[in-house]
Amino acid sequence: MSYEIRIDGTDVKFDAEAGQTVLDAAAKHGIEMPYSCRKGACGNCKGRVLAGELVVGTGGGGHEAGINAPDEHLFCRAQPASDLLIAPRSWHRIDPDARKTYSATVFRNQLVASDVSILHLRLPTGVRARFAAGQYLQVILPDGQRRSFSMANAPHENDGVLLHIRHMPGGGFTSGVVPNLAKGDVLQIELPHGDFYLREDSDRPLLFIAGGTGFAPVKSIIDDIIKRGIERPMTLFWGARVPAGLYAPEVVKKWLRQRPSLRYEPVISAPIDAMAWSGRRGRVHQAVLETFDSVQDFDVYACGAPAMVQAVRTALEDQRGLPPTQFFSDSFVAESPVAVV
Ligand code: FES
Repeated sequence: MSYEIRIDGTDVKFDAEAGQTVLDAAAKHGIEMPYSCRKGACGNCKGRVLAGELVVGTGGGGHEAGINAPDEHLFCRAQPASDLLIAPRSWHRIDPDARKTYSATVFRNQLVASDVSILHLRLPTGVRARFAAGQYLQVILPDGQRRSFSMANAPHENDGVLLHIRHMPGGGFTSGVVPNLAKGDVLQIELPHGDFYLREDSDRPLLFIAGGTGFAPVKSIIDDIIKRGIERPMTLFWGARVPAGLYAPEVVKKWLRQRPSLRYEPVISAPIDAMAWSGRRGRVHQAVLETFDSVQDFDVYACGAPAMVQAVRTALEDQRGLPPTQFFSDSFVAESPVAVV
């Protein structure tokens, strides 16, 4: 049994098999819509179903996932029960053959904070990965489960990948496997994934907001911007609980030398001694609110835990005039078979 899904206002249509989500069916036919966590937590994939029925219990999501209207649904969950007419927030065509699987070898595994590893993987000799700055890969575990991590390197450094991995409490892979990976160990990886990348049809100033290891895809994008000489004004807010969570100060220092106009605002949320931190304190979205009266002329790229990303989105759209079309995000969701962590 299959159903036909049409995108409103276009002649684009594709089939979905029974049990397949709208998001997966679209991707299988070379159409990518916004998404991040794929598990109903981040709200990135929400769109409207204008006609047709969904399998009862799929497509839902609460206010915390940004669902506000009866015809809004999460396309990473929604399964058609009839032909559908849908209105995704955006969509574009992709080449399904561009995604490839590689055997990658651990070159270096550095512990850069008490709970963060930077893993440098190398591809086989002569092999180059193709991806856009900000996208992510999936590690395919021996039992077929997958774990998702953003590339922190820019696309021109494509003989390998750099991953910033937070050791999640209870995370079998991030806490159990990653700290023990050693030079020469081999992982299966698949890339590219995701639609968190720089939109180049805009020349608006860029506001990057990262929480913890949400810094990784932002690093890839800023490295790429500097390498390619893109001259858009940039501001970076990087939030962490404690100062050690801002684990790549040398990267930011290099950017400030290369691009002195970059504005950098580190933000710490835990109550700590004034001697240990003299900079901004509080939640990162609050720091942005305190800094800007309006961000309606910015493009905002936010990456981190779903609650942080949602707080940023709500604050800037509701209180600082940010048009929803100028907000791009990637949410890191706790470890699960398809989690972005
Ligand atoms: S809620 Fe669907 S991708 Fe996150």
